[in-house]
Amino acid sequence: MIGRPSGPFRVGDRVQLTGPKGRLSTITLREDGELHTHHGVLRHTALIGQPDGSVVANSAGHEYLALRPLLRDFVMSMPRGAAIVYPKDAAQILAEADVFPGAVVVEAGVGSGALSLWLLRAAGPTGRLLSFERRPEFADVARANVETYLGDTPENWDVVVGDLVEALPATAAPASVDRVILDMLAPWECIEVVADALTPGGVVLCYVATATQLSRVAEFIRGTGLFTDPEASETMVRGWHVEGLAVRPDHRMIAHTGFLVWARRLAPGAVPPEVKRRASKSSYGDEDVELWTPGAVGDRQITDKNLRKRVREAQRAADGARLAAGSEAPGPVVE
Ligand SMILES: C[S@@+](CC[C@H](N)C(=O)[O-])C[C@H]1O[C@@H](n2cnc3c(N)ncnc32)[C@H](O)[C@@H]1O
Repeated sequence: MIGRPSGPFRVGDRVQLTGPKGRLSTITLREDGELHTHHGVLRHTALIGQPDGSVVANSAGHEYLALRPLLRDFVMSMPRGAAIVYPKDAAQILAEADVFPGAVVVEAGVGSGALSLWLLRAAGPTGRLLSFERRPEFADVARANVETYLGDTPENWDVVVGDLVEALPATAAPASVDRVILDMLAPWECIEVVADALTPGGVVLCYVATATQLSRVAEFIRGTGLFTDPEASETMVRGWHVEGLAVRPDHRMIAHTGFLVWARRLAPGAVPPEVKRRASKSSYGDEDVELWTPGAVGDRQITDKNLRKRVREAQRAADGARLAAGSEAPGPVVE
């Protein structure tokens, strides 16, 4: 896997600059690179070889603080095809799903690749991540984002284009997967194939946007009798303003993003003694199913035109990173 994001700045590194008035810009360092603004020109050579966290001046004497972006900075600013998992939820997903170094992890869908980056980091170089995505353009955005952040495509990461229901049984042997993370509109449609792929004791975790999805997937998991009783949570993180005597919660916060629901795969034939009840309503009629459209659950869909723009944007960033690092020619461009 990819090099350590520390030490003095090198050609090919992404650097986040905080300039005059706190304005942020992100650059990829090149020998001949320059950042032109109304406040003058900053040559990349002023940064190359300097320690992370340095302050450098441009041609007009304006100072910039230079830091490598943390993963949370990168995912919040990278091009998006689909809505991303926010850092607060990603952290909680890693904890509740117990993603460990060396784990074999399945995720679907891959969307913009935000969660993929967290999973790759947690599973580490000895782990393996299999990411499934049914829309090829989203898979392109995710691949480009991962390559931009890591500088290369990790060898232990496969992106499979297809619906998880068909693609998972064709990709992973039964009982061979340690952890499965589902971030999609209708995760209940995938629970049966997930149950086959998971190793006994393995964890399935679903990230859903609405309480109705949470209820439906929890009841479905419970109704299979193949998992422990599902647990659920939501994560609210409230920032604080801490300055002198003005110590108080921030006025604004990201309130709702989604819910997590997770359960562990039982051994074949096992019936845990403490599970005495069954779901009162684990099946739904056709009318209920018809309600589950992206619009009905408030999922804003990106237009095809905008999506193609995001793919090009993500690929340009990846090409820039590759060229700056002095590796091979630009990758294919989606028109
Ligand atoms: C919200 S996005 C995932 C975002 C991603 N976790 C991230 O952090 O960037 C949901 C994705 O799931 C994909 N999807 C939905 N159902 C799927 C299925 N059954 N198999 C594979 N992909 C699926 C959609 O195309 C969409 O790209």
